[in-house]
Parts: sequence; structure tokens; C-alpha cells
Amino acid sequence: HRHLLGIEPLSPADITIILDLAEQYVTLNRSARKHSEALAGLTQINMFFEASTRTQASFELAGKRLGADVMNMAMQSSSLKKGETLIDTALTLNAMHADLLVVRHPHSGAVDLLAQKVNCAVLNAGDGRHEHPTQALLDALTIRRAKGRLHRLNIAICGDIAHSRVARSNILLLGKMENRVRLIGPPTLVPSQFAEFGAEIYDDMREGLNGVDVVMMLRLQKERMDGGFIPSEREYYHRYGLDAEKLACAKPDAIVMHPGPMNRGVEIDGEIADDINRSVIQEQVEMGVAVRMAAMDLLARNLREAPQTVMA
Ligand code: CP
Repeated sequence: HRHLLGIEPLSPADITIILDLAEQYVTLNRSARKHSEALAGLTQINMFFEASTRTQASFELAGKRLGADVMNMAMQSSSLKKGETLIDTALTLNAMHADLLVVRHPHSGAVDLLAQKVNCAVLNAGDGRHEHPTQALLDALTIRRAKGRLHRLNIAICGDIAHSRVARSNILLLGKMENRVRLIGPPTLVPSQFAEFGAEIYDDMREGLNGVDVVMMLRLQKERMDGGFIPSEREYYHRYGLDAEKLACAKPDAIVMHPGPMNRGVEIDGEIADDINRSVIQEQVEMGVAVRMAAMDLLARNLREAPQTVMA
């Protein structure tokens, strides 16, 4: 693959290759000298058109640990403000011989479009409600490490599925790896089309959590609700917030995940989020750095093997 735009084009073998390499980077990141030369001589540019804490910080750290020259574009002060289009901005960076472009954008499909116009490798850091492939990969690595396998698990994804690129990428990845995915939430936030992906849909959380191995919680993405129905936080927490009583419906060794940013007391009880016996939320963040290192390392190997000619 030349780019990492989504989980959709990846095969189970591709996913396993990325996760296996990421394991090596977990070891490197835990060592005293967190440095490799895998991206030495390459230029990585991060373009975030939407807010980010975890993804942007971990892509920056990942590039630096692999020896790349990393630049974070300050999109708020870029010439986009003067009317320059996304594509013209990307072509400008392309002409500066960027090798890796990491892009987050509020519009679904914007990153795919950009990838068609540049000759560097493009990594999707989240586009609208479409895909967030490195999030699904880091979630997969976290699950594999906690459960010892990444197949034949029962995994519940709970909350605002409709507006979530994290849910979409996870549904695709977990399905490809032959897991059973349940989607839990109010019908307004869990579109029935998701059944097409082979997922089972529940609006009763206790029923949906019954016997699952993994409980993945999602935030209400109000910024994507476009004035549509927004549930009251108190009512939402009562019905769909993960508390000890609802978690007791899952398997006794079920792990609790959340991609962040987290709204404590809305979709998850703060005590559960902090319970190191159940919650792997901090491990997800750690895996994020390793997975992004692996993804960029593999794309850089492709770049070196088949350098692209400069487009007109
Ligand atoms: N999980 C995630 O994408 O977090 P950020 O929005 O902070 O990058």
C-alpha cells in the first residue's frame, strides 16, 4: 500500500504485519534509548484541520523516535485562512518534498481526495465520520495484548456510533479478524445500516453487554450532530453510561476501552475509567505511538522501494 487511508483496503495479513511490527516498537518505546533510524532523511508533515491531543502528539513523537524531520503545520495561521484550498495547500507541501503527510480533516473523504493529488505517502488521522485507521489499529493491538488473541472475541462498541469514524474503522477491522461486534446505543445514534457490516444492534445496554470480552465506549460527538437530536447528558448517562452495575453484565475479565477524549459522567463513570484492573485506556494511548511508528515505517519502506515521480 502507498497510503494508509482506511481499514477498508487492508487484508487480515496487512493488519497482522502492522501489529507485529508495532510490538517491536512497544519494546523500543519502553527502553532507555527510544530511537531508530527507520525514517532518517525523510520529512513528515502533520496537517490537523480539527482538534486533536492524542493523535497529533503520538504521530509527532512517532516520527521523531524514527528519526524523521517532523513539522506540525499550524493550520489556524496557514493560508487556508486566505482562501487557499486543501488541495493547493497539499500540493505546496508536496513541492517541498514531504515524504509523509499526516492529515486530519472534518470532511469525510477529504484525505482520500488529497492522497490522489500528491506523490508522498498520506496517513489518514481521521476524516469526518469516515475512518480513523490508526485508532482501530491501536485498539486492535491493545485487545490482542490484553486477551492474547484478536479473533473470536465478543466486542461491544457503545454510544454514538452514527457520528464516529472510530466506530466505523473498528467495525471493519474487528469484522475482518473474525470477531463478533455488537453496537449498543439509542436508535438515533446507531443506524440500522451498520447491520450490513455483520454487527448486532442493541438499544438495551445490559442486554448488549451480556457476556462480552471487550467494552469500547464512545463520546457523544456533538460537533457532528448538525443541530439534530442531542440527548440530555443526565438521561444518556442513566441509560448508556458505563457504570459498575452495567459493566457487571460483561464477562468478569472484560476490558474497558475508550479512544478519548473522554467525558466522565456522560458516557463513562470516572472510577471505571481509572480502574487499572479493568480499564486499558492508558495502554491504548501507549499503543498509539507504537502503531503509528509501525505504519510510517512500513509506508517509508514502500517509498524507498518505489519512489514516486513528481506529478505535474
Ligand atoms: N482518539 C483520538 O483521536 O483522540 P484525539 O482527537 O485527541 O486525537
